[in-house]
Amino acid sequence: ERPDALPRDLEGRHVVVSAGGTREPLDPVRFLGNRSSGRQGFALARVAAQRGARVTLVAAHTADLVPPAGVDVERAGTAAELRDAVHRAAKDADAVVMAAAVADFRPTALAPHKIKKTDRDPDPVELTRNADVLAELVRARRDGQVVVGFAAETGDDGADVLAYGRAKLARKGCDLLVVNAVGDGRAFEVEDNAGWLLSSDGTETPLPHGSKARLASAVWDAVERWFRG
Ligand code: CTP
Ligand code: CA
Repeated sequence: ERPDALPRDLEGRHVVVSAGGTREPLDPVRFLGNRSSGRQGFALARVAAQRGARVTLVAAHTADLVPPAGVDVERAGTAAELRDAVHRAAKDADAVVMAAAVADFRPTALAPHKIKKTDRDPDPVELTRNADVLAELVRARRDGQVVVGFAAETGDDGADVLAYGRAKLARKGCDLLVVNAVGDGRAFEVEDNAGWLLSSDGTETPLPHGSKARLASAVWDAVERWFRG
């Protein structure tokens, strides 16, 4: 989309977007990570800036992406670093969009030296829960601040993607939840997304297959509707 074709409807707003996948170190050379590329988060940041917002992009590990012009970038390696950066930026933010893939667990111990291979079987890796940043944002939410979560879901025998999305929206307590249907090669490491935009007011908007910029526009349209009340 051409920037000059976009409305400047986010002028005067500060928005925070987290993007990419966190990496939880095991030792100086190894980590637990995930396949998030950061493309959706970067598209959200780019479109928000084009629509006039001041944007803080908290970027965890991403594919080789160039941050959008005119955006403040904060780098975060681990979930703990991302948590600090997001909360700092969120203090005066009108909206926070958690597009990052935040690790749910981290290795309990960080080995100071590279873990050596021996003749024995390795010890199991003990994991500790990370804080849920989105849940903390919801608890700390200021009047009028809009909090948006992302969920990549697969359907299974128990429930479909939309049912899982509704349950997660209720559990998380955020204003908007973007539900991406994954599996069949969708969402991760590809250019396109499809899913639903669920709102806590009960509105459910299908997100047709399209570019991540299109999805970003749909998210900001919904956030802007929340701003207007
Ligand atoms: N999230 C977060 N902090 C975490 C884990 C997730 O802020 N420690 C955010 C993600 O950025 C996303 C939303 O929560 O916006 C949903 O993440 P998801 O992994 O789908 O939800 P979980 O509650 O972690 O549930 P599960 O992984 O079991 O599906
Ligand atoms: Ca998770």
